[in-house]
Amino acid sequence: MTSTQRHTEADYRDSPLYGFAVRSKLYRPFTIFRGLYRTYVARSDAAYEPASWWDRYYTGQPIEDATTLNPGKELYPSLYHYNSIENLILSYLFNTGAAVDGAHVLDVGSGAGHWLGFYAGLGAASVTGVELSHPAAEALSERFADNTRINVIQGNVAEREFDRHFDLVNAIGVMFHIVDDEAFDRTVTALVAATAPGGLLVFGGHFGIFDNVNVQYDREGRVNKRLRSRRHWRRLLTGCRHVDFVRNDAYRHIDATLPENNLLIARR
Ligand SMILES: C[S@@+](CC[C@H](N)C(=O)[O-])C[C@H]1O[C@@H](n2cnc3c(N)ncnc32)[C@H](O)[C@@H]1O
Repeated sequence: MTSTQRHTEADYRDSPLYGFAVRSKLYRPFTIFRGLYRTYVARSDAAYEPASWWDRYYTGQPIEDATTLNPGKELYPSLYHYNSIENLILSYLFNTGAAVDGAHVLDVGSGAGHWLGFYAGLGAASVTGVELSHPAAEALSERFADNTRINVIQGNVAEREFDRHFDLVNAIGVMFHIVDDEAFDRTVTALVAATAPGGLLVFGGHFGIFDNVNVQYDREGRVNKRLRSRRHWRRLLTGCRHVDFVRNDAYRHIDATLPENNLLIARR
């Protein structure tokens, strides 16, 4: 099986309904309503097997930022998506006086390595990436072989124990791919514990009203993306001093679909 294991935009791009949904931005609420139907009415909740799925996902296609979003994703919307998140993180760091310079950073689900490069570029003393997919982890190790501050570990974050503290923990577009509820709660709790007191946790995704909404399925009908509510996240982050939800409205200004890319930034 190749990267076509997942429904891609190319499957729909020629449909007038898709064009309307993209231009009107109605694809966002539509994704949630369809997810609510599938989750609570059709009750389709068989989960995917993450390790083999992500191995296959990155096989047979270039491993770059755009393809982490969707096979065949265009360059401009991809850059726009990453820039919009970067801007929200930068404004948050600047407005709160937080500095990455000299920090030890953990990046969860590093994909093609965008956030490894971003935090290294901000002067982090070290950036450790944990990436589940073997091909992606290998590509990352090659890409950053000359950068002694960046270290990539292949593994499942849900099964890792961290024996040290990080000043900043980053997980953009990753946590909703931990579909198993027990693994999700355990992982968020472990990431909080791995954050130094006063350190930051930066999560990218969707933090709405409805909990455990299955919004994406593979071609075999198994869930590979599940959104948790704000309330759910708050419960897991009770040990943190501040929890801020930062809305990303960038999708309103481009006629392309963007993944869920709001931010939750917490200070331990
Ligand atoms: C949508 S991509 C996002 C990649 C990257 N964070 C970015 O924003 O460019 C999700 C990534 O998380 C990785 N991933 C999914 N589940 C994981 C897990 N349990 N542990 C570590 N990595 C995981 C996938 O292999 C994939 O590379």
